[in-house]
Amino acid sequence: MTEKSLRVLIIGSGGREHALLKACKASPLVAAVAVAPGNGGMEQEAICYPLNVTDVHAIVALAKRLDANFVIVGPEAPLSVGAVDALVAEGIPVYGPNKAGALLEASKTFTKDFLMRHAIPTAWGKKFTSSEEAVEFLAAQKFPIVIKASGLAAGKGVIIAEDYDAACSAVYDMLDEKCFGNAGAEILIEEFMEGEEASIMLMVSEDKYVMLPASQDHKRVGDGDTGPNTGGMGAYAPAPVVTPEIEKAVVETIVEPTLKGLLADGIRYRGTLYVGIMITAEGPKVVEFNARFGDPECQVLLPLLKTDPVQLMYDCATGTLDPSKVEFRDGFNIIVVLAAQGYPSTPRKGDIISFPSKLPAGTAILHSGTEREDSGDIVTAGGRVLGVVAHGATLATAAQNAYALIEKIRFEGMHFRRDIGARQLKRDGV
Ligand code: AMP
Ligand code: GLY
Repeated sequence: MTEKSLRVLIIGSGGREHALLKACKASPLVAAVAVAPGNGGMEQEAICYPLNVTDVHAIVALAKRLDANFVIVGPEAPLSVGAVDALVAEGIPVYGPNKAGALLEASKTFTKDFLMRHAIPTAWGKKFTSSEEAVEFLAAQKFPIVIKASGLAAGKGVIIAEDYDAACSAVYDMLDEKCFGNAGAEILIEEFMEGEEASIMLMVSEDKYVMLPASQDHKRVGDGDTGPNTGGMGAYAPAPVVTPEIEKAVVETIVEPTLKGLLADGIRYRGTLYVGIMITAEGPKVVEFNARFGDPECQVLLPLLKTDPVQLMYDCATGTLDPSKVEFRDGFNIIVVLAAQGYPSTPRKGDIISFPSKLPAGTAILHSGTEREDSGDIVTAGGRVLGVVAHGATLATAAQNAYALIEKIRFEGMHFRRDIGARQLKRDGV
């Protein structure tokens, strides 16, 4: 591929897509980049087009109108409705799995069947559509136990039930009260796994893959992992909790059997495979798969690549990936998410954000839920508003750099976790 040959369209509007945009802007391969729908921060760096990301026809029409020769799909929703299949049918290379591959995220029962069929370590699980049968099954189980809506529920469809009564009410809420709509029409009852969680993102081109450094997300809204679950309040990478031994076990028992299993099942996977693992006493086990980069994990992982991430994504999309050529940078990246008043339940919108005039080297402010007003002001427009990313030779310096920058950012109701990376910092003796 030659310099300045790619006209890229990025689909999505969060911090992950802002990180993808920055990678495109830094890539010598990219002649032009547009985003749809984007957000207030991305509008300052690229043209953003309005788009309903689950409207496959609109995605194809926009890619053709822009004469895009490479599309990067950020979020899961367009993947799960077949945006990639439609773009590929038009001859446009796309980074992101097709509809069949995206089922690894869109259907937890499909994934559980897949994992069990290919003998990949995971919690045992059993699927139900009848609350009567589910409750009868629960009567003979040990607690805690995990109840999951099978479909896409924006990260909210998982209940860890401490006892029989809590488990039964989760079952009734999902199957009878339809609290997650159709996403909970089928549920999974799953063994509770004890251990520490980590995420491993793979850039996959069917049988070939690049494994990015392990990362750790922080899903609860409050310090010390308290309060309700969110889309992710912060992350860091590399995560040393994934030791070389654990990484080897992940590759041998999870990654390679998964990629072989996909091919054996006729699924030609090209895009990110997000492997959420629990490090248990019996070794790493799969908690979940996602069919895309994590948000906010993507924001710390892309800048750790010395190799051009756009080149890697394009090579995955076109089947030309050469994993032996990939290089990483030293040091650690951290991201702290700044959330709006009321997040995660009912985030307030419209608060004006004030930014520092200059960014220190090795830091970035990525936008998630922001809008740009006609006045030029950037205002809050979503739950997760900004992500503050910082690099450091150690995790401790990365964290110091991020928190120092946060001091200079302000909006009414802004809240964030002050303990991103704390578990690892404690292990490091900081
Ligand atoms: P999921 O959407 O499947 O990743 O689940 C969301 C979160 O629930 C995970 O990140 C874990 O913290 C927790 N979780 C899910 N499944 C299990 C399990 N089987 N055992 C323990 N925790 C779990
Ligand atoms: N940060 C978790 C996710 O993207 O699903």
